Amino acid sequence: MELERSDSAVLDLVTPVALLKREHATTRRMLDVLLALARRVEAGADFPSGDAAAILSFFREFVEQVHHRRENLVIYPFAAMVGGEESAEIVGQLMADHDETKLLMHSLTVFWEPNGLLPDERRSFAEVARTYANRLLKHMEIEERVLFPVATDIPGDEAIRLVGEFERIGVDRRSCEDWVVELERLEAEYID
Ligand SMILES: [Fe+2]
Ligand SMILES: [Fe+2]
Repeated sequence: MELERSDSAVLDLVTPVALLKREHATTRRMLDVLLALARRVEAGADFPSGDAAAILSFFREFVEQVHHRRENLVIYPFAAMVGGEESAEIVGQLMADHDETKLLMHSLTVFWEPNGLLPDERRSFAEVARTYANRLLKHMEIEERVLFPVATDIPGDEAIRLVGEFERIGVDRRSCEDWVVELERLEAEYID
């Protein structure tokens, strides 16, 4: 049966790559908040441990445990399968990026100090935050430019199967939309 124009538009919205790009957009916004918080800390403001914990929760609980797992377990294997050897090599690099950014994110948590941070520690926190943001931004850019196009033109029933796998991975976690409420509160506080 041929799809009506409106059905086709709905299908476009729920392709696996469209969902991942939407998650990237939210991730980029939260990285902007992290960088703004880091600039304040570097300039001498009290370390806002509650807000920093909320930001890092997003990266740990959503980016690592939902978004990166969706990529590692679903879209990377699919892209490697349909894209051949070249895509398989890129997938290897992207999976290594996930491990590296996970380590950087965890190294940010060592700055939790009930008695406040010394000037050197403030600078180090801001440097690690900038390194983390730069790596993750570059990683997402490579995914969108090189890997996602391989997985964009897939038949509707295959797209629905992959989206179903995405949903299973995120089923017991806060969704990307759930995090936007927290994100908007943080943007109001940190982004001019
Ligand atoms: Fe990724
Ligand atoms: Fe990604």
